[in-house]
Amino acid sequence: MEVVILPDAEAVAALAARTVAAELRRAERPVLGLATGSSPLGIYAALRGIVEAGELSMDGVRGFALDEYVGLPVGHPESYAEVVRREAVVPLGMDPALVRVPDGAAEDIEAACADYERAIAEAGGVTVQILGIGGNGHIGFNEPTSSLASRTRIKTLAAATRQANARFFAEADGASVPTHCLTQGLGTILEAGALVLVAQGEHKAEAIRQAVEGPLSSRWPASALQLHRRATVIVDEEAASRLELADYYRDTVAAKPDWQRV
Ligand code: GLP
Repeated sequence: MEVVILPDAEAVAALAARTVAAELRRAERPVLGLATGSSPLGIYAALRGIVEAGELSMDGVRGFALDEYVGLPVGHPESYAEVVRREAVVPLGMDPALVRVPDGAAEDIEAACADYERAIAEAGGVTVQILGIGGNGHIGFNEPTSSLASRTRIKTLAAATRQANARFFAEADGASVPTHCLTQGLGTILEAGALVLVAQGEHKAEAIRQAVEGPLSSRWPASALQLHRRATVIVDEEAASRLELADYYRDTVAAKPDWQRV
């Protein structure tokens, strides 16, 4: 795992966007793995700049979102289908017909999950997956104790996650946040060609420590990144504040030859 510690959220977004762009550019069938939450918003803004500068074309780029709430009416502004459309598809000029989000309104949830897995496989797999991380270490909506081999499925949201996401909904106490979600599994996420996880702020410091330096454990689902050969974790100083080996990561990045820099 490559760990890059940067001074602030803006620098995190800029490097993550350059990394994602480099992966998409060299892919024969580029497929972008989209994440929601606040963490990746800066990446989409920076990616837009790269597209507008003519350094990346999103023509023909497919997209798959990580997850979706169950039970929100179609078009609900906080459904991830809407968030992905608003924050990524429209600003990046992606073709909406090429972008999919798990169907949280499906009558047959199991069939919808199997169909989602099939669609990713038919697209040739995800080229590069953007990830945020929950304070409890979840990625996508793979809450603690998710199987490291899990596939797209329905999950119950942890109380801490509903509380954290309440800020996006009308009521601040979490009561209006759905209780269930569909999420790509950890096994699904690990099949992406490259993973780029970003985190900003002190409230992510423990989750980052556990993901990067803790034991591989479903207790901290993001520790599954340790199994991936091309995982990059890009964090600001605050999110890096509990990393025991921070100096080593800094030395490693500083010692990189130019040809390895994005
Ligand atoms: C959300 C999403 C995750 C996201 C995480 C952190 O609920 N399902 O994909 O990474 O929780 O969110 P934020 O970036 O807003 O802190």
